[in-house]
Amino acid sequence: MYKEMIIENIEEMKNFATLVSKEVFPGFILCLEGDLGAGKTTFTKYMGKGMGFTDNINSPTFTIMKIYEGDLDLNHMDVYRLNGIGSDYDLEEYIYGEGVCVIEWYKNIINSLPEEKMVIEIEIIGETRRLLKIEGTGKYEEIVKKISN
Ligand SMILES: Nc1ncnc2c1ncn2[C@@H]1O[C@H](COP(=O)(O)OP(=O)(O)OP(=O)(O)O)[C@@H](O)[C@H]1O
Ligand SMILES: [Mg+2]
Repeated sequence: MYKEMIIENIEEMKNFATLVSKEVFPGFILCLEGDLGAGKTTFTKYMGKGMGFTDNINSPTFTIMKIYEGDLDLNHMDVYRLNGIGSDYDLEEYIYGEGVCVIEWYKNIINSLPEEKMVIEIEIIGETRRLLKIEGTGKYEEIVKKISN
């Protein structure tokens, strides 16, 4: 399932991220792509809020992953600096674990990701305007259909 959607501003991005946050399940994988400053971390921040986290979610670029513990953990990864999973990072344990994973710059670890996942590419088309390209495979197909209506 593939859908495109225009987001006009941060408020709309927040609403969309909140919608996505209501669909998560154990092992949920959301991959984010898009240029620097596209809004991947901003999206994740609002998704975390929607999942009930009150922590300030910010960029894990320099730590690769931040874990927010809850009924369902949120594992926020930014693998910008990784190319393939190095021995120092046991990311697969999390990717195939029980928590929810949101992965910025997922293409850098594409070989370590499952076939079934949701992918959102955020394209900057204006100051606050974004084109979202949303793709869902397997059990994510229904979710993509639902959130893009
Ligand atoms: N519609 C929008 N959605 C998300 N962010 C927006 C939007 N409009 C403007 N912004 C701004 O764009 C910036 C997005 O930064 P953010 O850190 O989320 O990007 P990123 O994709 O995670 O970048 P990086 O690749 O550096 O991690 C923020 O300053 C945010 O306020
Ligand atoms: Mg970021």
